[in-house]
Amino acid sequence: MLSNTEYIKQSLGLHLFFARIMKEHSFFLEVSFTPRDSNFTQEADDFRREFDKILGEAISLSNGVVNPEVLKSGEVVTPFTMNAEMATIYFTGIQIPTQLTQAEAGLAGSNTATIDPALERYVSALNNRAIKATTALIQFKSNILNNVLSCTMFTFNYPLLIKHIIREAELYVQQLKRLQNREEINLEREAYEMEFFWNRQMAEHAKFIRGLLDPTENDLIEQANNFGKEFDLLTEKAKAAMDATLHHVNVTAESLKATENLRDFKSQGTQGILQCKVKSIIIPLLGDHVLREANHYLRLLKMFERR
Ligand SMILES: [Fe+2]
Ligand SMILES: [Fe+2]
Repeated sequence: MLSNTEYIKQSLGLHLFFARIMKEHSFFLEVSFTPRDSNFTQEADDFRREFDKILGEAISLSNGVVNPEVLKSGEVVTPFTMNAEMATIYFTGIQIPTQLTQAEAGLAGSNTATIDPALERYVSALNNRAIKATTALIQFKSNILNNVLSCTMFTFNYPLLIKHIIREAELYVQQLKRLQNREEINLEREAYEMEFFWNRQMAEHAKFIRGLLDPTENDLIEQANNFGKEFDLLTEKAKAAMDATLHHVNVTAESLKATENLRDFKSQGTQGILQCKVKSIIIPLLGDHVLREANHYLRLLKMFERR
C-alpha cells in the first residue's frame, strides 16, 4: 500500500512528464492532417488544450512537493524546450503556452515526508481527469491509425508513430490507475518490462529520426540507423530477460550505456535543428520531445541499477 505522501509525489511527478508528452502528441497530430480533415485538426487542438490545463494544474500543485530527481532528470524540461517551443510556434502559428515551460523550469523539489495531506483530494481528482482525457486520446489516435491503415485518411505522421504514441498513452493510463489503487510499484519485478517497453520506443525514435532527416544528411542517417539496430537488439534482450528470468543478462547496464549515447545524439540533433544546421522535416518540438523521453528512461534505468 502506497503512503499518502508517495501517492502525491509519484502522481505529480508522472503528470509533469506525461501530461506534457500527451499535449505534444496532440500537437503532432494536429499539424499533420490534410485540409480535408479540419474536424480532426480541431479535435486534436481540443486535446492539446485539455492537456495544457492538466499540466498547468499539476505544476500548480508540484512546487516543493515532487521528487528532486524527477526535476533534475531533464524529463520535465530540457535546456532546449523553451527555444524548441518558440521555433515551433513561429513555424506553425499555434500558440503553445510557454509560460507552463517557464513555470516547470522554476519548480523546486522536496525530499521531506511532510506534505500537506489536503493535496490528496486535488491529486486524486487530477488523476481521474488525466485518465479520462488520455483514454479519449487513445481512442482518437486509434481511430486515426485505423483510417490511415485502411487508406481512408492521409496524415504526415508515420503509421508506426501513431502506434508508438498510443503505447505511451496506454502506459500513462496504466500507471495512473495503479496509483489510484495505491499500488506499490515493484522495481525488481518491473525493471525488465519497462526496459522492454522503452528500448522499443528508443529503437523507434531512432528510426523516425532516420526517416525524417534530409536524404543528404548521410552521417546522421547512418548514426540513427545504427541506434535503431542497437535498440532492436536490446529490446530482444529485455524481452528474453522478462520471459525467462535470465537475470544474469546485464541488459540494464547495456541499456543505460546505449540510452546515454542516444540521449547525446538527440541532444545534438535538437541543437542542430534549432541552429538551422541540420536539414530535416523534424519539427523542433519533436526533437526535444524524444530527448525528454530518453531522459525519463535514463532516470528509470539508474533506479533499476541501484536496486
Ligand atoms: Fe512521445
Ligand atoms: Fe516516444
